[in-house]
Amino acid sequence: MVNTLSKPEPSEMRDGIKSPAAETILTPRFYTTDFDEMAKMDLSINEDEMQAILDEFKIDYNKTHFVRDDRFEKSWDHIDGEKRKLFIEFLERSCTAEFSGFLLYKEISRRIKDKNPMLAECFNLISRDEARHAGFLNKAMSDFNLSLDLGFLTKSRSYTFFKPKFILYATYLSEKIGYWRYITIYRHLEQNPDDCIYPIFEFFENWCQDENRHGDFFDALMRSQPDILKDWKARLWCRFFLLSVFATMYLNDLNRSDFYAMLGLNAREYDKEVIEKTNDTAGRVFPIVLDVNHPDFYRRLETCVANGEKLRAVDASNASKPVKTLKKLPAFISNAIQFLNLYLLKPIPTAQLEGTIR
Ligand SMILES: [Fe+2]
Ligand SMILES: [Fe+2]
Repeated sequence: MVNTLSKPEPSEMRDGIKSPAAETILTPRFYTTDFDEMAKMDLSINEDEMQAILDEFKIDYNKTHFVRDDRFEKSWDHIDGEKRKLFIEFLERSCTAEFSGFLLYKEISRRIKDKNPMLAECFNLISRDEARHAGFLNKAMSDFNLSLDLGFLTKSRSYTFFKPKFILYATYLSEKIGYWRYITIYRHLEQNPDDCIYPIFEFFENWCQDENRHGDFFDALMRSQPDILKDWKARLWCRFFLLSVFATMYLNDLNRSDFYAMLGLNAREYDKEVIEKTNDTAGRVFPIVLDVNHPDFYRRLETCVANGEKLRAVDASNASKPVKTLKKLPAFISNAIQFLNLYLLKPIPTAQLEGTIR
């Protein structure tokens, strides 16, 4: 499906510094948590695995990976018009998401370092990786004569508070889905080099290994706190986070299908592949996974995609604000019904699969 609603020109808050995109329910979020509760996490039952992961972080496999070379040293003016807008939006969203990870991990590390030094060191080293990722993306934006003021973003964005266990569910999933997103694009472009319109994608192979290691760290950390994975509440929350992460990505990506088309990818097929792989991976640690092959799963997500198009059409109209709100109401109600029904789809228990290689 082609997205026919045109996007506004990127606006600048000062010369060459892009105004951050408006926050919506679908934009990358910034998080904060209960640092005292985080500091009290006792890692002893999974200490060996945590130590092995820390040792691996210290090796720093990608120390020299994120270096811009002559592949970047040319004009990118041929990526113009709508393509350019989509490309800048991709870089901004990715940079914001990586930077959000950096801020959260760095702050956790700083706040717990006296009480829980080993955990603090792990968080410090993953924040090092995220800072590199965000910095590399921000430099890529400069190839399009823009950049993000990350200091301004730090101060101006609102922060969502999650208790530590919810931070673990959410960050685990975002790291693993990040891994599958990057590696799926990389493998596609490896097979179809003519679709590689910009060299940043060539960095995704090593880059995604950082995200995979980060995901493995959160996997090990959750295992060190088995209470957050075992009871009926854990099953309900894991369902909620899986669905939220998958639905958000699906709605975001289908709204930007023209961007994926630029890379020769079909956004629907790409997302379905990433969702299936991430769901499978999550079965290694979560007590349940979603039944993503149930016919209702994508049928209901597609209804949400269609609702999203209706909402954007109302937003683009000249109607007054109260009229717009009224016109949007049926789509909002429908989205809530779809989400509730998706949440109620019977999940697949993974108890028998825990600890196995999938
Ligand atoms: Fe990252
Ligand atoms: Fe990461």
